[in-house]
Amino acid sequence: MASPLDVEAVRARFASLRRGEQVFLDAPAGSQVPDSVIDAIAGYLRASNANSGGAFATSVRTDELTAHGRAACARFLGCSPEEIVYGASSTALNFQLSRTAARDFAPGDEIVCTRLDHDSNIAPWLELAHDKGLVVRFADFHDDGSLDMDSLAAAIGPRTRVVACTWASNALGTVNDIARVSALAHAAGALAWIDAVHWAPHGPIDVAAAGADVLFTSPYKFYGPHLGVAFARAELLEAWRPYKVRPADPFPLGHRHELGTLPFELVAGVTAAIEYIESLGWPAIQAHERALGARFLDGLPANTRLHGLPTMAGRVATFCVSIDGVTPAEAARRLAERGFAVWDGSYYAHEVMPRLGLPGGAVRIGFVHYNTPAEVDGVLAALKGLE
Ligand SMILES: Cc1ncc(COP(=O)(O)O)c(C=O)c1O
Repeated sequence: MASPLDVEAVRARFASLRRGEQVFLDAPAGSQVPDSVIDAIAGYLRASNANSGGAFATSVRTDELTAHGRAACARFLGCSPEEIVYGASSTALNFQLSRTAARDFAPGDEIVCTRLDHDSNIAPWLELAHDKGLVVRFADFHDDGSLDMDSLAAAIGPRTRVVACTWASNALGTVNDIARVSALAHAAGALAWIDAVHWAPHGPIDVAAAGADVLFTSPYKFYGPHLGVAFARAELLEAWRPYKVRPADPFPLGHRHELGTLPFELVAGVTAAIEYIESLGWPAIQAHERALGARFLDGLPANTRLHGLPTMAGRVATFCVSIDGVTPAEAARRLAERGFAVWDGSYYAHEVMPRLGLPGGAVRIGFVHYNTPAEVDGVLAALKGLE
């Protein structure tokens, strides 16, 4: 049994939550950050601000901080520090690394994407297909929001070079069996290209167990600053010819694939975010989120239709709903008036809404470990009041 999360003690660590301005149910678009993350960012700028590679004290501290940061990310993802690549965002890293990986792809080579994915793990491949004559095939999902593994297996063929799949859906909350997805990719000799952005705030990642060859996260979804962090297997980083400036040639692995000066203050912030999660532990986080999610599902009012899995089995506490007689945009506006921050639209899960027949998208309500049972009850009552 996980020791229970002391949610009030957790909330005391966040300036934004102490403010009590609104109920934050928008974590799938970006979570709040604890004070320790803010302090790490400001602390770097106050005490260590410099470029890397110099002989003087602030530069030496900057290099130490970056090494510490890569080690923290490596712990977080279960890889080695040299397999970490920092970038501006998950989307930027995906465009960049997909281009690097595809330098030797030939016309007619195939990429498999899924209709559950955020567009950041689809559009890079569509653009490459446009540039290089590749073929993009799509795997479908079932009406309940779970990935259709038969459709995925059928889309993979002898010319598949990459299977691009999300670990968890940022729209419907579904958690995919990523190890199985990766095994299917590898059986065809393809790379498993995994978007872990939505999963990362909700549970542990072990890239080896997941079978990921490349994997993306966005620290601003897991209590850190706005930045992207990717993993790529050492052999790939070694074999790929990076897009880089010539003086960066001698740098080892991951760093060879980073473009320009890193945002060191944000690297410090990511490290603090990972240390924050480590201070709580995944079992306590997951037990708390599961309880919040079950409470939400149990209390859904009659006017609210859920898109996605009906219990907490196979999902995280990210809920996509339609409200009878109210457009998603209007519902989000009225909920905001009552102090609830929720999202509406497609959240860049560009294939999901047409597939569900929801041209106006839906309302997304996301719970993370800093939310409370009272907040769940509050938003349920507010949803009911939208009638
Ligand atoms: C599942 C998923 N993948 C990728 C992204 C894009 O992340 P970034 O904003 O870091 O490019 C998001 C952002 O919402 C997401 O939810």
